[in-house]
Amino acid sequence: MSNTVKLLGVSGSLRNLRHGKGSDILVEEINQIHTREHLIEYLSSQAQICLSSFIEAGRKDNKSFDKILKNLKRLPGVNGLSNSEVLLVAGLWAAKQNNVEIEHVSLSDIFGNEKNAKEKIYSFLNKIKEANGILVSGPVYFGDRGSLTHDFLQLLRVNSKLVKDKVFAGITVGAKRNGGQETTLIYQMLDFINIGMLAVGNDAESTAQYGGTGHAGDVGDIAKDYYGINTAIGTGNRISNVLKMINSTKDTALKKKPKIGIIVLQDKNNKVLNYVKKTIINSYLSKVADFRLLYLVNESIKSCIACDICPTEVDDDRIYRCIIKSKKDVFSSIHEEMIDFDAILIGGFSPENYESLKSVYQKFMERTRYLRRSDYLLSNYLVVPLIFKDVNSRENLETRIITSMIRHHTIIYSPIIFNELDNRLINFEKAIGDLEQFVEMAKKIAVGRIKYNATALEYEHYNPVGYTLSSAKDKDFTTIQKRKTAMNKRRVRFKQMLTRRVIYNG
Ligand SMILES: Cc1cc2nc3c(=O)[nH]c(=O)nc-3n(C[C@H](O)[C@H](O)[C@H](O)COP(=O)(O)O)c2cc1C
Repeated sequence: MSNTVKLLGVSGSLRNLRHGKGSDILVEEINQIHTREHLIEYLSSQAQICLSSFIEAGRKDNKSFDKILKNLKRLPGVNGLSNSEVLLVAGLWAAKQNNVEIEHVSLSDIFGNEKNAKEKIYSFLNKIKEANGILVSGPVYFGDRGSLTHDFLQLLRVNSKLVKDKVFAGITVGAKRNGGQETTLIYQMLDFINIGMLAVGNDAESTAQYGGTGHAGDVGDIAKDYYGINTAIGTGNRISNVLKMINSTKDTALKKKPKIGIIVLQDKNNKVLNYVKKTIINSYLSKVADFRLLYLVNESIKSCIACDICPTEVDDDRIYRCIIKSKKDVFSSIHEEMIDFDAILIGGFSPENYESLKSVYQKFMERTRYLRRSDYLLSNYLVVPLIFKDVNSRENLETRIITSMIRHHTIIYSPIIFNELDNRLINFEKAIGDLEQFVEMAKKIAVGRIKYNATALEYEHYNPVGYTLSSAKDKDFTTIQKRKTAMNKRRVRFKQMLTRRVIYNG
């Protein structure tokens, strides 16, 4: 059994400077970088080479851009990095520091060049097959991916078996600060999970959001965007840690069925309540998983009051620590159960007509803030939207669940959607099949999460980026000590779980 974990870095820019043997040279160069300072120097010099190549290729003689591009393509592809390539390298470097084997492929080489096209695609598909995860970096074009990344997605859509259950993460660069980096990351994340991949964002050390976001317009600009480089490093860290976590589950299994929480936040005339009971809890599926229903639709959930310091205290994970302590509010009574699930199905009914819809969805989501800020209490949970959807619904509930829940440092699985027409589920078998596959993945991730938290957990530190008051409190000596103690308790809790709940088959 191989313990090597492989991450394939895919470059999606047509300004991309590395291709062919330049990809292998790039990997060798990354392998030689051992410190962050050295990485930053390397990235600056490569961005500078990109700018000089561009000038040499014709900008200095005022040549038109198509001529410049033609000249750039004639280069051997062994030097320089475009803006989005720079961030890809930052992500791949982080993965390498985590002992993950890295590879690089340039999409402009695969799709932008007709020479040996078939052979190139064949060899690319082989690389994809061998990789455990894929990290894609490309420019933002009109608030979305560029056509090279799109061609890549289309290739995978017709070869989806090759990437089933593998892990995806993304990085993008745009010329504007808010140029659509996040929309690009979100759309591509949705598309990649919908072909069967798992998705992660960037790590807790950066911002635990949707991936790497760079801000650079002109050739070479990206080297000055340290914040963007940081998010790219965070994305490389996140995907490589999840790959290692999944790889560590070989030869292990849960002793009992996984505890899967079904959190229902929106319903109409008890439709979801009845569907969930009939199709999941009281069906044959109860033989493969221990489903725990948290039907919160009729419960009282108060709005988050946006505390400057959240959570109110630093303490053991098991203690509910939101400022809202009213007995009427449901959160304090579900806290312990919620943090004890192995995976989470979350959602409800998505209607066309909102009459008689009951929803606590938005309040629930904002109230989970204390869980995120308790050093990512839901870290590495496998999360999937479970939607019972009127076929004419335009609500996008599944997308909103994904974009909110990924910020809990979770692993996102493709939404399970039961479509309803005239009070009848019209895709029952497909959705049940998806649910069965989700349970299999939930078992694997549950073992990985228990093992990781018991043996490899360092510090899932919530970093209050953007909050001055919280940052000051965060640096306070007592807070640091308390957080360390809480993290130790988390480790101990998972060590006990490891003995109680995981068996080794090897
Ligand atoms: C067709 C096109 C559309 C673009 N659309 C956007 C956009 O919507 N938002 C943005 O911030 N930048 C946009 N840009 C700028 C690029 O994202 C930016 O220059 C980026 O740094 C290019 O990365 P690269 O050098 O790796 O190709 C666009 C560029 C082109 C050519």
